[in-house]
Amino acid sequence: MKILGIESSCDDTCAAVVEDGRRLLSNCIASSAQEQNLYGGVVPEIASRRHIENISGVAQSALDDAGLSMEDIDAVAVTFAPGLIGAVLVGVNFAKGLSYAAEKPLIPVHHLRGHVAALYLTHPELEPPFLCLVASGGHSHIVWVESYTKFKVLGRTVDDAAGEAFDKVARTLGLGYPGGPAVSKAALGGNPKAYPLPTPHVEGKYNVSFSGLKTAVLNTVNHVRMRGEEISVPDMAASFQQRITDILAEKLLLAAGDLGAKKICLAGGVGSNLALRQKLEKGAKRLSARLYLPELKLCGDNAAMVAAQGYYEYLDGNVADLSLNGLPTLNI
Ligand code: KG4
Ligand code: ZN
Repeated sequence: MKILGIESSCDDTCAAVVEDGRRLLSNCIASSAQEQNLYGGVVPEIASRRHIENISGVAQSALDDAGLSMEDIDAVAVTFAPGLIGAVLVGVNFAKGLSYAAEKPLIPVHHLRGHVAALYLTHPELEPPFLCLVASGGHSHIVWVESYTKFKVLGRTVDDAAGEAFDKVARTLGLGYPGGPAVSKAALGGNPKAYPLPTPHVEGKYNVSFSGLKTAVLNTVNHVRMRGEEISVPDMAASFQQRITDILAEKLLLAAGDLGAKKICLAGGVGSNLALRQKLEKGAKRLSARLYLPELKLCGDNAAMVAAQGYYEYLDGNVADLSLNGLPTLNI
């Protein structure tokens, strides 16, 4: 079954074709991140406008790259929640039009379920149940993936998402958007012990909190500058990255140990962070568990993950009609 996936929940306009949820036939992305960088973050209105301009072309490229036409496609899967609502609606309405015109089933996909499904494209043998940390710009969830379409959230951020914290710290350090890649690049030359940063206390065994950590970075930067000294950007980037990846890894491994999970997974844009990946490798070994990491190009937003999850949603009978609406928030 060949599924055309459409994803437009943030600043990337994405289309991809995946066969049977596992085989990647094409994966196209047009990103407005460079333009968003001018404003220090995602401006929703700009994201929506770029989606409208790009979506037809990106979908056509995904078909072309796969050597297919709409006639060869069996269904259209689309991210319908959660996300920037104006951005989500561009993809939803495009997918609705395409499904209606081509007379193909329309499959609604939850964005975070999509991030988890990126793992199926990288690891053909991986099957639920497994434990997964989904860390992106909008979410930080520790999820028990019971089946392809059944999820239990064990822990989450009580304030900022991990990616959001990276983005805000990047802005404080003048590193631009998106912040995650910029902070980890700056951290390469830094001393992670240079600036002591707190581990915020949080209610809930597997919950995380990053707002205090982000504020601690801002306060430290302000104090150093008030003393007329220069902040070392590499040292602060390294100190922040060390603390936030320690917190994420510790919580995921704590849950894995408690549950006796033997399959531990990472997904979402923050999943491309090498320090986090290395910490989880070590931790999984300690627990004699196997760690599954998504390919770097499938960590951030893409439509291949949407098409992959769409396959399993379809098998579970989850098909929408033309009344499908986008939603800004929705539990996984
Ligand atoms: O999953 P994603 O592409 O979009 C959302 O669903 O939000 O995640 C984007 C987030 C951004 O906050 C970005 O700064 C972060 O992922 N990110 C990273 C890295 N690459 C992207 N964070 C830490 N380290 C990275 N290497
Ligand atoms: Zn995402």
